[in-house]
Amino acid sequence: MSGRVEGKVAFITGAARGQGRSHAITLAQEGADIIGVDLCAQIGSVPYPMATPEDLAQTVKEVEAAGRRIVATDADVRDYDALKQALDDGVAQLGQLDIVSANAGIVSFGRAEELAEQTWRDVIDVDLTGEWHAAKAAIPHLRDGGRGGSIILTSSDAGLKASQNLAHYVAAKHGVIGLMRTLALELAPDFIRVNALAPTTVDTLMVMNPATYRLFRPDLKNPTADDMAGPATALNVLPIPWVEPVDISNALLFLASDQARYITGVALPVDAGAAIK
Ligand SMILES: NC(=O)c1ccc[n+]([C@@H]2O[C@H](COP(=O)([O-])OP(=O)(O)OC[C@H]3O[C@@H](n4cnc5c(N)ncnc54)[C@H](O)[C@@H]3O)[C@@H](O)[C@H]2O)c1
Repeated sequence: MSGRVEGKVAFITGAARGQGRSHAITLAQEGADIIGVDLCAQIGSVPYPMATPEDLAQTVKEVEAAGRRIVATDADVRDYDALKQALDDGVAQLGQLDIVSANAGIVSFGRAEELAEQTWRDVIDVDLTGEWHAAKAAIPHLRDGGRGGSIILTSSDAGLKASQNLAHYVAAKHGVIGLMRTLALELAPDFIRVNALAPTTVDTLMVMNPATYRLFRPDLKNPTADDMAGPATALNVLPIPWVEPVDISNALLFLASDQARYITGVALPVDAGAAIK
Protein backbone atom coordinates (compact mmCIF):
# COMPACT_ATOMS: atom_id res chain seq x y z
CA MET A 1 0.00 0.00 0.00
CA SER A 2 1.29 3.48 -0.78
CA GLY A 3 0.02 7.03 -1.09
CA ARG A 4 -1.93 6.80 2.17
CA VAL A 5 -1.56 10.55 2.75
CA GLU A 6 -1.21 11.58 -0.90
CA GLY A 7 -1.60 15.32 -1.48
CA LYS A 8 -1.84 16.17 2.22
CA VAL A 9 0.34 18.57 4.20
CA ALA A 10 1.69 17.63 7.64
CA PHE A 11 3.03 19.92 10.38
CA ILE A 12 5.65 18.17 12.55
CA THR A 13 7.36 19.62 15.64
CA GLY A 14 10.74 18.24 16.66
CA ALA A 15 11.40 17.33 13.02
CA ALA A 16 15.21 17.56 13.10
CA ARG A 17 15.94 14.02 14.25
CA GLY A 18 14.63 10.92 16.00
CA GLN A 19 10.94 10.19 15.74
CA GLY A 20 10.15 13.59 14.19
CA ARG A 21 12.52 12.99 11.28
CA SER A 22 11.16 9.47 10.85
CA HIS A 23 7.58 10.84 10.83
CA ALA A 24 8.55 13.40 8.17
CA ILE A 25 10.17 10.79 5.91
CA THR A 26 7.36 8.23 6.39
CA LEU A 27 4.62 10.75 5.60
CA ALA A 28 6.62 12.08 2.62
CA GLN A 29 7.08 8.55 1.26
CA GLU A 30 3.29 8.20 1.47
CA GLY A 31 2.68 11.39 -0.48
CA ALA A 32 2.57 14.30 2.01
CA ASP A 33 4.43 17.61 1.97
CA ILE A 34 5.94 18.64 5.29
CA ILE A 35 6.11 21.74 7.48
CA GLY A 36 8.83 20.93 10.00
CA VAL A 37 10.05 22.91 13.00
CA ASP A 38 12.72 22.24 15.58
CA LEU A 39 14.49 24.24 18.28
CA CYS A 40 17.91 23.15 16.93
CA ALA A 41 19.55 24.34 20.16
CA GLN A 42 20.26 23.14 23.68
CA ILE A 43 18.02 23.59 26.75
CA GLY A 44 20.16 23.90 29.88
CA SER A 45 18.36 21.33 32.06
CA VAL A 46 18.47 18.58 29.40
CA PRO A 47 21.24 16.07 30.18
CA TYR A 48 22.02 15.03 26.57
CA PRO A 49 22.83 16.91 23.35
CA MET A 50 19.72 18.13 21.55
CA ALA A 51 19.29 18.52 17.78
CA THR A 52 21.34 20.90 15.62
CA PRO A 53 20.63 22.93 12.45
CA GLU A 54 22.57 20.22 10.55
CA ASP A 55 20.08 17.63 11.81
CA LEU A 56 17.15 19.65 10.46
CA ALA A 57 19.00 20.10 7.14
CA GLN A 58 19.34 16.29 6.96
CA THR A 59 15.57 15.90 7.42
CA VAL A 60 15.04 18.37 4.56
CA LYS A 61 17.37 16.32 2.36
CA GLU A 62 15.60 13.06 3.12
CA VAL A 63 12.08 14.44 2.58
CA GLU A 64 13.19 15.94 -0.74
CA ALA A 65 14.80 12.62 -1.69
CA ALA A 66 11.35 11.08 -1.19
CA GLY A 67 10.09 13.51 -3.84
CA ARG A 68 8.08 15.83 -1.57
CA ARG A 69 8.36 19.48 -0.55
CA ILE A 70 9.32 20.62 2.94
CA VAL A 71 9.36 24.01 4.66
CA ALA A 72 11.70 23.73 7.65
CA THR A 73 12.18 26.42 10.28
CA ASP A 74 14.05 26.82 13.57
CA ALA A 75 11.27 27.51 16.09
CA ASP A 76 10.68 26.86 19.77
CA VAL A 77 7.37 25.18 20.66
CA ARG A 78 7.43 27.19 23.93
CA ASP A 79 7.16 30.42 21.92
CA TYR A 80 3.60 30.44 20.57
CA ASP A 81 4.03 33.46 18.29
CA ALA A 82 7.19 32.06 16.66
CA LEU A 83 5.60 28.62 16.24
CA LYS A 84 2.45 30.10 14.70
CA GLN A 85 4.54 32.23 12.33
CA ALA A 86 6.51 29.17 11.17
CA LEU A 87 3.29 27.23 10.57
CA ASP A 88 1.51 30.15 8.87
CA ASP A 89 4.51 30.60 6.53
CA GLY A 90 4.53 26.87 5.75
CA VAL A 91 0.81 26.81 4.98
CA ALA A 92 1.21 29.91 2.78
CA GLN A 93 3.90 28.08 0.78
CA LEU A 94 2.35 24.60 0.64
CA GLY A 95 -1.26 25.72 0.36
CA GLN A 96 -3.07 23.74 3.07
CA LEU A 97 -2.83 21.76 6.31
CA ASP A 98 -4.23 18.29 7.05
CA ILE A 99 -2.07 16.50 9.63
CA VAL A 100 -0.36 17.64 12.84
CA SER A 101 2.30 15.68 14.74
CA ALA A 102 3.01 17.43 18.04
CA ASN A 103 6.17 15.46 18.73
CA ALA A 104 8.87 17.79 20.10
CA GLY A 105 9.93 16.77 23.57
CA ILE A 106 12.67 16.65 26.17
CA VAL A 107 13.39 14.55 29.23
CA SER A 108 15.49 14.89 32.37
CA PHE A 109 15.66 12.87 35.57
CA GLY A 110 15.40 13.26 39.33
CA ARG A 111 13.35 12.31 42.38
CA ALA A 112 10.23 14.51 42.60
CA GLU A 113 11.41 16.33 45.71
CA GLU A 114 14.81 17.02 44.18
CA LEU A 115 13.81 18.43 40.78
CA ALA A 116 14.95 22.04 40.34
CA GLU A 117 12.17 24.53 39.58
CA GLN A 118 13.64 25.21 36.13
CA THR A 119 13.95 21.50 35.33
CA TRP A 120 10.26 20.96 36.17
CA ARG A 121 9.20 24.02 34.19
CA ASP A 122 11.26 23.14 31.09
CA VAL A 123 9.63 19.71 30.76
CA ILE A 124 6.10 21.02 31.33
CA ASP A 125 6.70 23.94 28.95
CA VAL A 126 8.06 21.82 26.09
CA ASP A 127 6.24 18.49 26.52
CA LEU A 128 2.78 19.76 27.51
CA THR A 129 2.42 23.46 26.69
CA GLY A 130 4.41 22.98 23.46
CA GLU A 131 1.93 20.36 22.23
CA TRP A 132 -0.99 22.64 23.10
CA HIS A 133 0.74 25.44 21.15
CA ALA A 134 1.12 23.20 18.09
CA ALA A 135 -2.58 22.28 18.17
CA LYS A 136 -3.69 25.84 18.88
CA ALA A 137 -1.71 27.23 15.93
CA ALA A 138 -2.98 24.47 13.62
CA ILE A 139 -6.70 24.39 14.42
CA PRO A 140 -7.67 27.53 12.43
CA HIS A 141 -5.88 26.15 9.33
CA LEU A 142 -7.58 22.76 9.68
CA ARG A 143 -10.98 24.41 10.14
CA ASP A 144 -10.39 26.75 7.17
CA GLY A 145 -9.59 23.77 4.94
CA GLY A 146 -13.03 22.30 5.56
CA ARG A 147 -11.69 18.77 4.97
CA GLY A 148 -11.37 17.71 8.61
CA GLY A 149 -7.91 16.67 9.75
CA SER A 150 -5.84 14.53 12.08
CA ILE A 151 -3.91 15.79 15.09
CA ILE A 152 -1.57 13.30 16.75
CA LEU A 153 -0.01 14.22 20.08
CA THR A 154 3.05 12.30 21.23
CA SER A 155 2.56 11.10 24.78
CA SER A 156 4.45 8.11 26.23
CA ASP A 157 3.96 5.01 28.32
CA ALA A 158 4.81 7.55 31.02
CA GLY A 159 1.48 9.16 30.08
CA LEU A 160 -0.36 5.97 31.04
CA LYS A 161 1.46 4.87 34.18
CA ALA A 162 3.83 6.05 36.87
CA SER A 163 7.58 5.98 36.55
CA GLN A 164 10.16 6.84 39.18
CA ASN A 165 12.62 9.72 38.61
CA LEU A 166 10.31 11.26 36.01
CA ALA A 167 7.59 13.14 37.95
CA HIS A 168 7.68 16.17 35.63
CA TYR A 169 7.71 14.01 32.48
CA VAL A 170 4.96 11.70 33.78
CA ALA A 171 2.85 14.76 34.70
CA ALA A 172 3.39 16.34 31.27
CA LYS A 173 2.67 13.14 29.33
CA HIS A 174 -0.49 12.38 31.40
CA GLY A 175 -1.47 15.99 30.68
CA VAL A 176 -1.03 15.37 26.96
CA ILE A 177 -3.64 12.58 27.13
CA GLY A 178 -6.12 14.89 28.86
CA LEU A 179 -5.43 17.58 26.30
CA MET A 180 -5.92 15.06 23.48
CA ARG A 181 -9.29 13.92 24.84
CA THR A 182 -10.53 17.48 25.27
CA LEU A 183 -9.40 18.51 21.79
CA ALA A 184 -11.06 15.39 20.35
CA LEU A 185 -14.37 16.47 21.91
CA GLU A 186 -14.08 20.09 20.84
CA LEU A 187 -12.98 19.40 17.25
CA ALA A 188 -15.20 16.41 16.39
CA PRO A 189 -17.97 18.56 14.84
CA ASP A 190 -15.38 19.72 12.26
CA PHE A 191 -14.24 16.13 11.63
CA ILE A 192 -10.85 16.95 13.06
CA ARG A 193 -9.69 13.76 14.80
CA VAL A 194 -7.29 13.94 17.74
CA ASN A 195 -5.34 10.96 19.08
CA ALA A 196 -2.16 10.29 21.04
CA LEU A 197 0.75 7.87 20.70
CA ALA A 198 2.20 6.23 23.80
CA PRO A 199 5.58 4.69 22.94
CA THR A 200 7.75 2.55 25.16
CA THR A 201 11.52 3.20 24.98
CA VAL A 202 12.43 4.28 21.44
CA ASP A 203 15.88 3.98 19.91
CA THR A 204 16.66 7.73 19.66
CA LEU A 205 19.28 10.05 21.15
CA MET A 206 16.79 11.02 23.88
CA VAL A 207 17.54 7.65 25.50
CA MET A 208 20.70 6.50 23.74
CA ASN A 209 22.98 8.65 25.88
CA PRO A 210 25.10 8.23 29.03
CA ALA A 211 22.60 10.04 31.31
CA THR A 212 19.90 7.48 30.49
CA TYR A 213 22.28 4.53 30.63
CA ARG A 214 23.19 5.62 34.18
CA LEU A 215 19.51 5.93 35.15
CA PHE A 216 18.92 2.32 34.07
CA ARG A 217 22.22 1.04 35.49
CA PRO A 218 23.19 3.08 38.57
CA ASP A 219 25.27 0.06 39.63
CA LEU A 220 27.81 0.58 36.79
CA LYS A 221 30.43 3.32 36.45
CA ASN A 222 30.27 3.76 32.66
CA PRO A 223 27.19 1.87 31.43
CA THR A 224 26.49 1.45 27.71
CA ALA A 225 23.39 0.82 25.59
CA ASP A 226 24.06 -2.92 25.89
CA ASP A 227 24.03 -2.59 29.70
CA MET A 228 20.67 -0.79 29.50
CA ALA A 229 19.10 -3.49 27.31
CA GLY A 230 18.28 -5.88 30.18
CA PRO A 231 16.35 -3.44 32.40
CA ALA A 232 14.78 -1.84 29.30
CA THR A 233 13.52 -5.27 28.20
CA ALA A 234 12.03 -5.80 31.67
CA LEU A 235 9.70 -2.80 31.06
CA ASN A 236 8.08 -4.52 28.07
CA VAL A 237 6.01 -7.68 27.61
CA LEU A 238 7.44 -8.61 24.22
CA PRO A 239 11.08 -9.57 24.81
CA ILE A 240 12.71 -6.52 23.19
CA PRO A 241 14.52 -3.58 24.85
CA TRP A 242 13.18 -0.80 22.61
CA VAL A 243 11.31 -0.08 19.40
CA GLU A 244 12.58 1.86 16.40
CA PRO A 245 11.36 5.33 15.33
CA VAL A 246 9.70 3.82 12.25
CA ASP A 247 7.46 1.71 14.52
CA ILE A 248 6.03 4.92 15.94
CA SER A 249 5.86 6.46 12.45
CA ASN A 250 3.81 3.52 11.16
CA ALA A 251 1.23 4.09 13.92
CA LEU A 252 1.25 7.82 13.21
CA LEU A 253 0.73 7.16 9.50
CA PHE A 254 -2.28 4.98 10.28
CA LEU A 255 -3.84 7.60 12.57
CA ALA A 256 -3.12 10.33 9.99
CA SER A 257 -4.68 8.36 7.13
CA ASP A 258 -8.30 7.84 6.14
CA GLN A 259 -7.96 4.23 7.32
CA ALA A 260 -8.47 5.71 10.81
CA ARG A 261 -11.30 7.99 9.70
CA TYR A 262 -13.56 7.16 12.65
CA ILE A 263 -10.84 6.89 15.31
CA THR A 264 -10.63 9.85 17.66
CA GLY A 265 -9.90 10.35 21.35
CA VAL A 266 -7.60 7.32 21.55
CA ALA A 267 -4.24 6.94 23.32
CA LEU A 268 -2.52 4.24 21.26
CA PRO A 269 0.33 2.38 23.00
CA VAL A 270 3.17 1.39 20.67
CA ASP A 271 4.96 -0.22 23.49
CA ALA A 272 5.68 -3.95 23.16
CA GLY A 273 2.96 -4.42 25.79
CA ALA A 274 4.55 -2.21 28.47
CA ALA A 275 1.23 -0.61 29.42
CA ILE A 276 -0.28 -3.92 30.57
CA LYS A 277 2.67 -4.73 32.82
N1 LIG B 1 12.74 8.06 22.94
C1 LIG B 1 11.87 7.52 23.77
O1 LIG B 1 12.15 6.52 24.44
C2 LIG B 1 10.49 8.08 23.92
C3 LIG B 1 9.49 7.29 24.51
C4 LIG B 1 8.20 7.79 24.61
C5 LIG B 1 7.91 9.05 24.14
N2 LIG B 1 8.91 9.81 23.57
C6 LIG B 1 8.54 11.13 23.06
O2 LIG B 1 8.73 11.13 21.65
C7 LIG B 1 8.95 12.47 21.19
C8 LIG B 1 10.15 12.50 20.27
O3 LIG B 1 11.31 12.19 20.98
P1 LIG B 1 12.57 11.42 20.34
O4 LIG B 1 12.63 10.09 20.96
O5 LIG B 1 12.51 11.51 18.84
O6 LIG B 1 13.79 12.28 20.93
P2 LIG B 1 14.84 13.28 20.24
O7 LIG B 1 15.54 13.98 21.35
O8 LIG B 1 15.69 12.55 19.25
O9 LIG B 1 13.92 14.28 19.41
C9 LIG B 1 13.18 15.31 20.00
C10 LIG B 1 13.25 16.53 19.09
O10 LIG B 1 12.47 17.59 19.68
C11 LIG B 1 13.20 18.79 19.53
N3 LIG B 1 12.80 19.77 20.54
C12 LIG B 1 13.01 19.69 21.88
N4 LIG B 1 12.57 20.80 22.48
C13 LIG B 1 12.05 21.59 21.51
C14 LIG B 1 11.42 22.87 21.52
N5 LIG B 1 11.29 23.58 22.65
N6 LIG B 1 10.98 23.38 20.35
C15 LIG B 1 11.14 22.68 19.19
N7 LIG B 1 11.75 21.48 19.11
C16 LIG B 1 12.20 20.95 20.27
C17 LIG B 1 14.65 18.34 19.70
O11 LIG B 1 15.57 19.32 19.22
C18 LIG B 1 14.68 17.04 18.93
O12 LIG B 1 14.97 17.23 17.57
C19 LIG B 1 9.08 13.32 22.46
O13 LIG B 1 7.86 13.96 22.72
C20 LIG B 1 9.38 12.29 23.54
O14 LIG B 1 9.01 12.74 24.82
C21 LIG B 1 10.17 9.35 23.44
